[in-house]
Amino acid sequence: MKKITVISPANIAFIKYWGRDNHKLFLPKNSNISMNMSGCLTKTTIEINEKLIKDIVEIKFLSKDYAILEENSIKAKNIFDQINRIRKISKLNFKVHIKSENNFPSDAGIAASASGMSALTGVLLIAFGLKELFEDKKEFSRQVRLCGSGSAVRSVYSGFVEMVYDKENNDAYAVQIADEKYWNLVDIVAVLNPEKKKISSSEGHEIADTSPYMLTRISEMKNRIKMTREAIIERNLTKLGPLIEADCISMHTVMMTSTPPAFYWNAGTMDIIQNILKWRDEENLEVYFTIDAGPNVHIICLNKDINIIEKRIRNNKYVKWTIVNKPCKGTMLSNSHLF
Ligand code: PMV
Repeated sequence: MKKITVISPANIAFIKYWGRDNHKLFLPKNSNISMNMSGCLTKTTIEINEKLIKDIVEIKFLSKDYAILEENSIKAKNIFDQINRIRKISKLNFKVHIKSENNFPSDAGIAASASGMSALTGVLLIAFGLKELFEDKKEFSRQVRLCGSGSAVRSVYSGFVEMVYDKENNDAYAVQIADEKYWNLVDIVAVLNPEKKKISSSEGHEIADTSPYMLTRISEMKNRIKMTREAIIERNLTKLGPLIEADCISMHTVMMTSTPPAFYWNAGTMDIIQNILKWRDEENLEVYFTIDAGPNVHIICLNKDINIIEKRIRNNKYVKWTIVNKPCKGTMLSNSHLF
């Protein structure tokens, strides 16, 4: 019985993917940019066992036991669809046993689908004899996209990554902007509420177009993407910070004004935002915020300021715990299997 294991990081979007131009091909509304997160990893092992009569997927969430995944949610459907899709490309027909675990809370706005879906696609491609698709990162990222998680596309490369939307050719794939050693930027996640969110990102992408502010968001994108790419290449946080905050606010405006509206922030989210603005204004601390589809705040700063900022965030009354992330390697093979 052959086993394959892959480890993949989550990533924090500086320029967000929210809403799609094409729901079948999972083409985003806009190109998007992120940094991988060293402290938020998924490890996935697949076993090829000719005797299996059905696919088995077991997932272990932080501090819970393994549970067999039932096909009753959009995310579970995406997982089983991806298994069937890649099996079909390979023309092989054996079933697989998959186990997967995260070292961080899932479904709480820490892009669990990014690490999970990229790791899943990686083990599937290798198990079904399509290693050349795994090794060609551009093609690998396209295969990841087709499982329905846009953020996962960006986890395949190391460091700072763009998901490029090529509208003319109905295509979207990842390209690396800079590797994990290029810039010692840090993302401190303030975990406020690790509960499951009410509107999943999959549902959110479907309703994003109902917001009257989506057109404004898209009109801002070309320039914002260009400037963000430049800020990373220049290692310029003073330029990057306002861009990521503007994009976060723009995405949450769309979320809050869609039908039905999605409000992900809570009192703790607002409290941390206000603190960050104050530290910047009053102490010249170079610190910025961004928030995905959940209440948790990602605090972006330079490595030299980690200690002072993390201590303050940990002492905030709303914060349950913090996760410190540096840029890291993208999806990669591992020799240590989960079972
Ligand atoms: O990858 P998805 O389909 O779970 O969507 C990701 C949505 C955000 O995390 C809110 C933004 C992003 O680009 O990561």
